[in-house]
Amino acid sequence: MSIGTRKSHNNILSVLALAVILICSLPTSAPLAQNTQPYQATLVVHADRPGATINRNIYGHFAEHLGRLIYEGLWVGENSTIPNTRGLRNDVVAALKELRVPVLRWPGGCFADEYHWRDGIGPRDKRPRRPNASWGGVDTNAFGTHEFMELCEMLGADAYINGNVGSGTPQEQMEWIEYMTSDSDSTLANLRRQNGRDKPWKVPFFAVGNETWGCGGHMRPEFYADVYRQYATFVKNHSGNRIQKVAVGSHDDNYNWTEVLMAQAARHMDGLSLHYYTLPTSNWDKKGSATQFGEKEWHATLIRTLRMDEFIQKHSAIMDKHDPQKRVGLLVDEWGTWYDAEPGRDMGALYQQSTLRDAMVAAVNLNIFNRYADRVRMANIAQMVNVLQAMVLTDKEKMVLTPTYHVFRMYKVHQGATLIPVDLNAPEYKLDQASVPSLHASASRDAEGRLHLSIVNLDPARAAEITTTGASIKSVSGEILTAPAINAMNTFDQRDVVKPVRFSGYKLQGSQLSLSIPAKSVVVLEIK
Ligand code: AHR
Repeated sequence: MSIGTRKSHNNILSVLALAVILICSLPTSAPLAQNTQPYQATLVVHADRPGATINRNIYGHFAEHLGRLIYEGLWVGENSTIPNTRGLRNDVVAALKELRVPVLRWPGGCFADEYHWRDGIGPRDKRPRRPNASWGGVDTNAFGTHEFMELCEMLGADAYINGNVGSGTPQEQMEWIEYMTSDSDSTLANLRRQNGRDKPWKVPFFAVGNETWGCGGHMRPEFYADVYRQYATFVKNHSGNRIQKVAVGSHDDNYNWTEVLMAQAARHMDGLSLHYYTLPTSNWDKKGSATQFGEKEWHATLIRTLRMDEFIQKHSAIMDKHDPQKRVGLLVDEWGTWYDAEPGRDMGALYQQSTLRDAMVAAVNLNIFNRYADRVRMANIAQMVNVLQAMVLTDKEKMVLTPTYHVFRMYKVHQGATLIPVDLNAPEYKLDQASVPSLHASASRDAEGRLHLSIVNLDPARAAEITTTGASIKSVSGEILTAPAINAMNTFDQRDVVKPVRFSGYKLQGSQLSLSIPAKSVVVLEIK
């Protein structure tokens, strides 16, 4: 991560907008807006205008060697008292399986550009211990290629391996791929067999470096475009494995990076990444608290997270210019909320609690990715366990599911479905001088013909009374995720404060559907 680089690219307009909000709005402890009157809205479902297929990989995840994610969060070792299967903890794996994780990115992040794959194979007691230069501490390398692939197999997820460009070589990268995917009689394929894996694995996605504009090498786009072309040449297909090659893309509004990469290297890549983190402030030095916040920070966080729409739209427009056929996918392979470290927690561990606000962020972003399904082919929330906007938090043998977990479970119905465009007409949710849409939605139709509609009411105080048109409806069912407070969270002692329940706020008269969506809630409906 290069905080300096990120800061320098922050959009000035956004900073000004947030400054206005911060100056004009109520103090953190202020009560929610007084207006609790429901508002009226209309929702048109364009069932007759099916769009692109929503790539299931939009619901992807990311696991980096960082904090307590890999060690403790996923890997506890075979001799642990925490119940495990060949070292991988059973409770976390079982919870993640419910999400139908389509793809998992590993081993970083910044860590990827310091990771040497040979450290993580062979007998565990002989593996070298290396400092984790990006995030602190020493990595025992107990979790390496075989353990990662075993995790993917348990989850039923595709492997997305992030190669090392920053401190590695094209040869090292080429040999890792051969080790993993070759079914030949080569020395490396036999080394894999000797280490316990006979059949090669499938590696459908391979990224050539991470954030090479920052922690991955502080390169200029012109330089990286050439480096990418060189390294990508040696990403080889073996034994029927077909790798999609991913180039490091931009972050936030760094459109020049996308322009240069697309102009100079597009024909060598299958995907170009994009990273964008949501901070309640624009300030990497003072991001804001994960749990101690009021409506001002709720609203500011929503403003910032909604910028994902603008970034995807503008990066896509550049990609369209160079690749009108949309052959190259835009892969948002790091996204999510990033707050200040909790007091008393190790700064490097990036452990943070997750509240109802994070559920809103997750739902809004997943709606956005669905809507841009024609270009966005993958997204990987940062990160899977115990780091940033995690699905699951652990404390030794204890585990708790976050509000974000519940959104991913509710939204999995969109995986692989066909996008159905929707139009919303609703008042803005205003706070002082700034406003965001009060409602946010996306819809899709699955292979069985069921329509799924996901609706987020961003307003923390007002319910939405929605009249829908456009879909032929016989029956409706659904779930709702909400909580009494905007900063409600699940803890190891109170695990179900934010948990989905059956949704009953609809009326079906003939085929006319009206919905009553409570304030600060996420609703997913199944319509037949
Ligand atoms: O997700 C944490 C870090 O954020 C990743 O290692 C890096 O790629 C990004 O800056």
